[in-house]
Amino acid sequence: ATGSSPGRGALIVFEGCDRSGKTTQTQKLFDCLVAMGRKVELWRFPERTTGVGKMIDEYLKSGNNLPDEAIHLLFSANRWETAPLLKSKLAAGVTIITDRYAYSGVAFSAAKGLDLNWCKSPDIGLPLPDCVVFCDLHPEKAAKRGGFGEERYENIDMQLKVYHQFQKLRQSDWKVVDASQSVDDMHEEIKTLALEAMDHCTSKPQQRSLW
Ligand code: TYD
Repeated sequence: ATGSSPGRGALIVFEGCDRSGKTTQTQKLFDCLVAMGRKVELWRFPERTTGVGKMIDEYLKSGNNLPDEAIHLLFSANRWETAPLLKSKLAAGVTIITDRYAYSGVAFSAAKGLDLNWCKSPDIGLPLPDCVVFCDLHPEKAAKRGGFGEERYENIDMQLKVYHQFQKLRQSDWKVVDASQSVDDMHEEIKTLALEAMDHCTSKPQQRSLW
């Protein structure tokens, strides 16, 4: 279907390691869907502007030292506090593109040594994405893009562990996109995947839940 289709919006999640191009690609997809007249919003997790988000922001900038379990639950709470709005937007036909989601939550905490199933449990019941785009770039290649930033997890050792956890979480329906190709080629591939997901979910009115 083309043009304005009835029904709910799609939840399109971007995942991947740091410097894999998620932020560039989510923005390009958003701009493109807006230009096509689609109802769409661009979100990100962590959402640093909320009360919980401010605690996460401080943690990432190394201001406070929380146990790994505690920060894990804050990242999850940050998704839960925005979930009612997320659900109502989707139900109202708005497609939500998000830069990271629960998969990052699990991958980063499991990379620090927490049990994978324990990590998954607080996110049980959140809206299930209609499409997970995994921006696939090995951390060794990502590092060559000009190094990582200043925040807590932005170093090669951590990124290698996170990449490994993402491989464990990866499901057969994930859309794995080669993030070493050009920005424009990657965008074209993602645009096709996103439009497919948006068309598809008009025939699947019920939003399912994680995991
Ligand atoms: P983000 O704001 O996406 O940072 P960047 O734009 O630098 O990639 O995410 C900040 C960090 O938080 C990032 O290293 C991934 C990590 N993270 C978690 O550890 N758990 C989570 O649930 C999420 C969403 C992110």
